[in-house]
Amino acid sequence: MDTNTIQKFLIGVQTSLDAYQSDPTETSRVEAQEKALELARALEKPRDAILKIAYSPTIVMAIKVAHDLQVFPTLAKATSPVSLNELAALKPADPLLVERIMRLLVAHSFSEEPEPCEYLPTALTKEMTQRTSIGVVESLFLEFLPGIQKVPEYLQVIGYKNPEDPFFAPLQYAHNVKKDGFLWLCENPAALTRFNAFMEGQRADRPHWADWFPVPDQILAGAHKGSDGPLLVDIGGGRGHDLLGFKQRFPDAPGRLVLEDLPAVIEEARSALDLKGNGIDMVPYDFFAQQQPIQGARVYYFRNIFHDWSDDKARLILKNLIPAMERGYSKVLLEDYIIPDKNARALEGMTDIAVMVFCSGLERTRQRFTNLLESGGLKVTKFWTREANGQGIIEAELA
Ligand SMILES: C[S@@+](CC[C@H](N)C(=O)[O-])C[C@H]1O[C@@H](n2cnc3c(N)ncnc32)[C@H](O)[C@@H]1O
Repeated sequence: MDTNTIQKFLIGVQTSLDAYQSDPTETSRVEAQEKALELARALEKPRDAILKIAYSPTIVMAIKVAHDLQVFPTLAKATSPVSLNELAALKPADPLLVERIMRLLVAHSFSEEPEPCEYLPTALTKEMTQRTSIGVVESLFLEFLPGIQKVPEYLQVIGYKNPEDPFFAPLQYAHNVKKDGFLWLCENPAALTRFNAFMEGQRADRPHWADWFPVPDQILAGAHKGSDGPLLVDIGGGRGHDLLGFKQRFPDAPGRLVLEDLPAVIEEARSALDLKGNGIDMVPYDFFAQQQPIQGARVYYFRNIFHDWSDDKARLILKNLIPAMERGYSKVLLEDYIIPDKNARALEGMTDIAVMVFCSGLERTRQRFTNLLESGGLKVTKFWTREANGQGIIEAELA
């Protein structure tokens, strides 16, 4: 890379940092981070870049092993350097093995090493003590990674068609099962717990939708069914973390909040978070097999649901929903990535592949959402996007 080009990237970094400092929004932060990454990539030799990318599964493995060795909670508490021998004594494990794992962690900012074999915590160490971030790492490493590894072989088997069958996605191919990923998880309680923590963790560091979507104007203003009427139904809501977030923000909103998910997930939700104490109703519901039982809600909310399914499957969800919707009153809100037509960000692309692996799902552009919803009997009333992040809300009503 010639010095003029480097100089150009450097100016880009400086300009975007200035913009962030004078207006510290999420958009300007992400912009500055991307400019800094462009510069870092320009400074890297292509061969080194490829080596590092190809080796990257070792990083997730090291984080998982460090978690198993209880390195993170110990380091997170430390106010002075923790020695290698102290870390190794936790399990116990061979100090040489721990040293090798820690080397990779230090290189990726999961710890600092002020002196040889002495370690200090970082922001990432502390984050790895959170149940949700542990769930992200463990679920992706244990459940998804074997499927990711099998994708090339699987694609060869299906003749390089775009995967559409949730009963035969790379996950099913890798784990040799014949059911959709969610039903498979329901039969594997430890994997289900990891996955649900992963889903909660996806919210971490991102604003709750009720912080940026105009709830008072778009939902509450027209909600006229009183305290017994259904206000918000979270379909496939996992442990109910989104509804709890809504309740915290709008404790006096009139009407029922209802969590729906598969029976095993509802069972887990009952013991995981205090939904009942927060007045949240729980209804076991299968959106493929049953018609929507809650009639005439103001909002039917789906977060990270449509991206799990091919268009055919998604239309089946809509078919079971539409008879319950009240014309002119009920809204559908889908919270998902809205993939830009060009230059999608890395996280959007990675999530797209993760849902392909798990259940032959896909992330969609505006046009794909419009086509899907129109073909399923709804019309899009607005695409709501928020700063910095591709995840947005697609608002729709009966066509
Ligand atoms: C990707 S997770 C999203 C969870 C939650 N909405 C969130 O964003 O954190 C998909 C959810 O859909 C649920 N689900 C899958 N198949 C379902 C079905 N047939 N009926 C109802 N819920 C289902 C899963 O159990 C899981 O909780």
